[in-house]
Amino acid sequence: MDLPLKHSDSARDRRTSLVIFIGCFVVMVAVLALTPGALGVAAPQRLKFDLAPLLQQSWLVQFHVWTVATALLLGPVQFVLPKGTGAHRVFGWIWASAMLATAIATFFIRDMRDGQLSPIHIFSLMALIGVPLAVWLARVKAMSHARAMTGLYIGLVIAGVTAIAPGRVIWAMFFS
Ligand code: HEM
Repeated sequence: MDLPLKHSDSARDRRTSLVIFIGCFVVMVAVLALTPGALGVAAPQRLKFDLAPLLQQSWLVQFHVWTVATALLLGPVQFVLPKGTGAHRVFGWIWASAMLATAIATFFIRDMRDGQLSPIHIFSLMALIGVPLAVWLARVKAMSHARAMTGLYIGLVIAGVTAIAPGRVIWAMFFS
């Protein structure tokens, strides 16, 4: 049986979620647009999509990217669909599993600082603590579940924006 969460699922809540989601993507596009050469503004002939730079990486990096891509795409679905339904729970578990799996996997990816943890691992720690906490808040039907999930999604988008930095794999996939 579908049990509604205690927090209200009003049209206003949904509008707020949508605004947060659109805001995240506007920030991502703005970062791309302001980065020389990105979006083909400075060099249109260099804009492309090539999976090769990703497929040349270790299986851990590939696993990381597929899991974050899953979480990135599922996020808006969760924000927009009605809360407390069976679909919300199924997608929620897939999202939480993808995020937790990616957080654990990234502790074993240490390419940036020659085998040492890098500042980006702070996101991994935040996800490792934040995802179980946000799931627990959903199980106790607490209002702050929505806030915790929104915060985690914003963190995911910020980590994604840093992944587009020149020299990194995602940059190579689109712009090199
Ligand atoms: C859309 C979101 C994301 C994308 C596209 C992405 C992409 C990548 C890629 C391609 C790498 C390995 C190669 C490189 O450095 O370019 C990487 C490394 C890493 N990512 Fe992500 N990532 C995203 C989100 C996240 C999140 C949410 C976390 C934390 C939970 C995270 C933590 C890390 C860490 C710790 C590394 C290893 C850094 C090192 O080598 O020391 N990333 N990411």
